[in-house]
Amino acid sequence: MKKVILTGDRPTGKLHLGHYVGSLLNRVLLQDTYTQFVMIADVQALTDNFEHPQKIIENVYEVARDYLSVGLDPQKTTFFIQSQIPEITELTLYYLNLVTLGRLERNPTVKTEIHQKKYEDSIPAGFFCYPVNQAADITIFKADLVPVGQDQVPMIEQTNEIVRKFNRIYDTTCLKEAKVLLGDTSRLVGIDGKSKASKSLGNALFLSDTPEEIKHKVFAMFTDPMHIRLSDPGHVEGNVVFTYLDAFYKDKEELAALKAHYERGGLGDTTLKNLLNETLQNLLAPFREKRESFQTKDLKEILFSGTTQARKVAQETMREVREAIGLNYF
Ligand code: TRP
Repeated sequence: MKKVILTGDRPTGKLHLGHYVGSLLNRVLLQDTYTQFVMIADVQALTDNFEHPQKIIENVYEVARDYLSVGLDPQKTTFFIQSQIPEITELTLYYLNLVTLGRLERNPTVKTEIHQKKYEDSIPAGFFCYPVNQAADITIFKADLVPVGQDQVPMIEQTNEIVRKFNRIYDTTCLKEAKVLLGDTSRLVGIDGKSKASKSLGNALFLSDTPEEIKHKVFAMFTDPMHIRLSDPGHVEGNVVFTYLDAFYKDKEELAALKAHYERGGLGDTTLKNLLNETLQNLLAPFREKRESFQTKDLKEILFSGTTQARKVAQETMREVREAIGLNYF
């Protein structure tokens, strides 16, 4: 029996290079050896976009296109839309009984998001509880492994606490704990160098960017403000161009030599930006080509058949969950 991967993304916008190094690349590499489910988390996305469902709905197809463009293969990976599996919502409600408000408050990712969204004074309850919904996503598929970025680690910890509590209280083994798999670069910084790459901050390089957009963003990257003349010694630390070269440039030996040269002085930002531009153009060109090979009707078919398949698995776990609690009346 193959082990199971479950992971997903909120469809709030196009996916970017941060998603790629944080999680997508791992999914592509593992799709041959695992039974892999990849979820478009529209229900979770609504928790902080409930007033703008149209934005979420439009992006479901964008995200699906991003998945296919990087080489996730519908023959190997099952794609599905979260809202179309109501069993996940049902399981969420049973899990909510096992979680305290205090525990929800301590989730560091949620804490940061509450602050960013200025929710401090009045936190929507659905948003506050989304980690519990995420625990249902993961466990309804009995996932062994969850490839995600660093910010998702607290969610998997909370998931495993719920699993242990559920299995103990209802004296069952039907739920399974999951492990996190972090990408090599688990938190890619934005082109401004200030915070992590994010669609909402407008500092990300998207998988679907045009060659012009890629070049423009590379040349707008924050480098070292003290590196004024070519001969000045430069800083590698905090220099976004080097951060991206670390993540995407294959020849690590040459990269180490470039860093040493930059620190000595005599290596210009333009040379490095040209190198990074070329590296990213080469990475993204095949993605662009693949993306264009799918039509909307292909996406619809892939998502429909994936969702149908995934729902069967979810229904089977829910049968076991109801039985464990004792809700199997008939
Ligand atoms: N919280 C994830 C994000 O913001 C998306 C997500 C929802 C997810 N459910 C999941 C990730 C289950 C991994 C497993 O990107």
